[in-house]
Amino acid sequence: MSIFDRLEEGIDSRSPSETIEAARALGEELPAEAILTLEGDLGAGKTTFVKGLAQAMGIQDLITSPTFNIFNTYNGAAKTLIHMDAYRLDARSNVIDDLMLEDFMTPPYCLAIEWPGNLSELPWPTTLSLAFTIKGESNHLIKSCRRDR
Ligand SMILES: Nc1ncnc2c1ncn2[C@@H]1O[C@H](COP(=O)(O)OP(=O)(O)OP(=O)(O)O)[C@@H](O)[C@H]1O
Ligand SMILES: [Mg+2]
Repeated sequence: MSIFDRLEEGIDSRSPSETIEAARALGEELPAEAILTLEGDLGAGKTTFVKGLAQAMGIQDLITSPTFNIFNTYNGAAKTLIHMDAYRLDARSNVIDDLMLEDFMTPPYCLAIEWPGNLSELPWPTTLSLAFTIKGESNHLIKSCRRDR
């Protein structure tokens, strides 16, 4: 079963390392331009998932939530990871333009956006929309809603 099918069915993750593993599997199958949205409550595992994407891309840096800036970029072996956290943003129509995010989106890249609901709209098609849900103490559900480009 492909990672896309597994995510569409919903992956029951029992630990942070299982979340990282699922993300690593996805990271290896992504196209050269990939935009992922990551939705879910605080602590649902979105940043943990981005750590797995980074592993798939051969990134050694520690992935932390962007705090002062809205996004961080990391150079991988073959592509760039752009990690955006829109948690502190109010919905503003031109925020993407203000950030000049597009300047960093030279393929191959993977753009992962936490709290996409705080952006009024994304000017690009989403490759995959992921929802994270806390089911139990360390049981988190990761589920995708696939969108065709
Ligand atoms: N199965 C699991 N998958 C992911 N994280 C888990 C799991 N079980 C427990 N955790 C814990 O849940 C927390 C997830 O934190 P993380 O920063 O990834 O969440 P987040 O969705 O990015 O939150 P925020 O919206 O605040 O950015 C971590 O402390 C992690 O150790
Ligand atoms: Mg986070």
